[in-house]
Amino acid sequence: DGFTAEKLFTQGFSYTYDDVIFLPHYIDFAADAVDLSTRLTRRLPLAVPLVASPMDTVSESAMAAAMASLGGIAVVHSNVSAAAQAAFLRAAKSRRVPILSDPVFAAPSNVIEHEDDFAGSPFLLVTDTGAAGGKLLGYVAKREWSNHTDKGLRVGDYMAPPPWRAPWNADLTKIYDIMEGDKSGAVALERDGEVVDLVVREEVDRVKGYPKLAAPATVGPDGEFMVGAAIGTREDDKERLKHLVKAGVNVVVLDSSQGNSIYQLEMVKYVKSVYPELDVIGGNVVTMYQAENLIQAGVDGLRVGMGSGSICTTQEVCAVGRGQATAVYKVSSIAYKSGVPVIADGGISNSGHIVKALSLGASTVMMGSFLAGSHEAPGAYVYQNGQRVKKYRGMGSLEAMTKGSDARYLGDTAKLKIAQGVVGAVKDKGSVLNFIPYTLQAVRQGFQDIGASSLQSAHDLLRSRVLRLEVRTGAAQVEGGVHGLVSYEKKYY
Ligand code: XMP
Repeated sequence: DGFTAEKLFTQGFSYTYDDVIFLPHYIDFAADAVDLSTRLTRRLPLAVPLVASPMDTVSESAMAAAMASLGGIAVVHSNVSAAAQAAFLRAAKSRRVPILSDPVFAAPSNVIEHEDDFAGSPFLLVTDTGAAGGKLLGYVAKREWSNHTDKGLRVGDYMAPPPWRAPWNADLTKIYDIMEGDKSGAVALERDGEVVDLVVREEVDRVKGYPKLAAPATVGPDGEFMVGAAIGTREDDKERLKHLVKAGVNVVVLDSSQGNSIYQLEMVKYVKSVYPELDVIGGNVVTMYQAENLIQAGVDGLRVGMGSGSICTTQEVCAVGRGQATAVYKVSSIAYKSGVPVIADGGISNSGHIVKALSLGASTVMMGSFLAGSHEAPGAYVYQNGQRVKKYRGMGSLEAMTKGSDARYLGDTAKLKIAQGVVGAVKDKGSVLNFIPYTLQAVRQGFQDIGASSLQSAHDLLRSRVLRLEVRTGAAQVEGGVHGLVSYEKKYY
């Protein structure tokens, strides 16, 4: 009944996730028993198969800490200076809670005249040196400062007393206990005698109610959150990589829309020879030929997808790419033979797409738009037609390229800039700490329906031809969605 993947994907069609549908199989385990643990690369295990895209409207320090705390990982973008990118890594790695306020520091004699002095942070920590690392004397919350009528006062005259302290790697329960026990509204996180951050009551209360995941967080042997980083393939990316390695980067992604290039092959070899301990993800690729070249060069993971992203116009502009379901299946069918995990990158807009990507051979999915409207994504919420939204833009959009991401889309030589992505907005989705656990539960249910109790078991079912699928006609796709109702509200949890 149905087709094997092998047969379905050799008919000359480029299929995407929505084109195909799995036939249900046999269930002999509970959905909760589905094990979603996986590998991002040859040497980097993850409890949860989710990766945040290296995009400047998705992955900076807050997303990195949140994804790692959930058992996934984020790849911080490189559309900033090397120092700023390394700072994203340091911020996410200097704590074990997915809460960051990134305070700025001041000395007691400083005067805060303008809101800009807070540099976007809700807090200012007062230390004797006026910088990180000094003795903590107190703190000022932006909200309290705004209430002051006399803006000429010295910080030392109105700061709140030093908050309670906890070690940098304290977990939420410990921080919560300190707050409860001492009736304090804030706890300072300290590491090697330096204040790292200030965790406030409001934030702890916000995340306290979110669903608890059984999955262990993504931490390295040093106890720090693991974080990935994107780099390009130019000469100055070698210098950037040096900064990132110093900041403790755990995996590096060579960020290119067409990864099978001499520049990338050379960069893979460079990274492997200079930093043999560091796993390198190559890509993007969509064909077996591209994948083979990168595998031979020594990549530890392959990022798959060309033009499938929600903000992408590559297929339209360059006439090149592939339907994402076909791409993931084809590349996985060759990569697994060398033990190289595949990251299905782009085109994920619901939990069903995640089930499809993972069952077609991917080991993880990388997401941009799915995460971009979250609390943890960079940028502020704004209102658009009465909806709370956040900006989300392609890294190949003119706007992002003006900031520096042109290397990914233009290569080294192009003089005229042509966009391969758009700038848009996505709906407020709340915190990833809240909606990711629900998403994972939905993925587990999909796995249960196809009779796969783990990723490995899904891949085995696919390759042993037990897992069957079919193409959905246009009408079948309409039928598969909500239809025939005058109105409805989509709510998943
Ligand atoms: P989603 O569908 O998750 O896709 O929003 C995210 C992925 O899209 C890729 N990306 C781009 N592709 N032009 C493109 O053709 C762009 O401007 C662009 N920006 C991001 C990237 O692979 C990302 O992970």
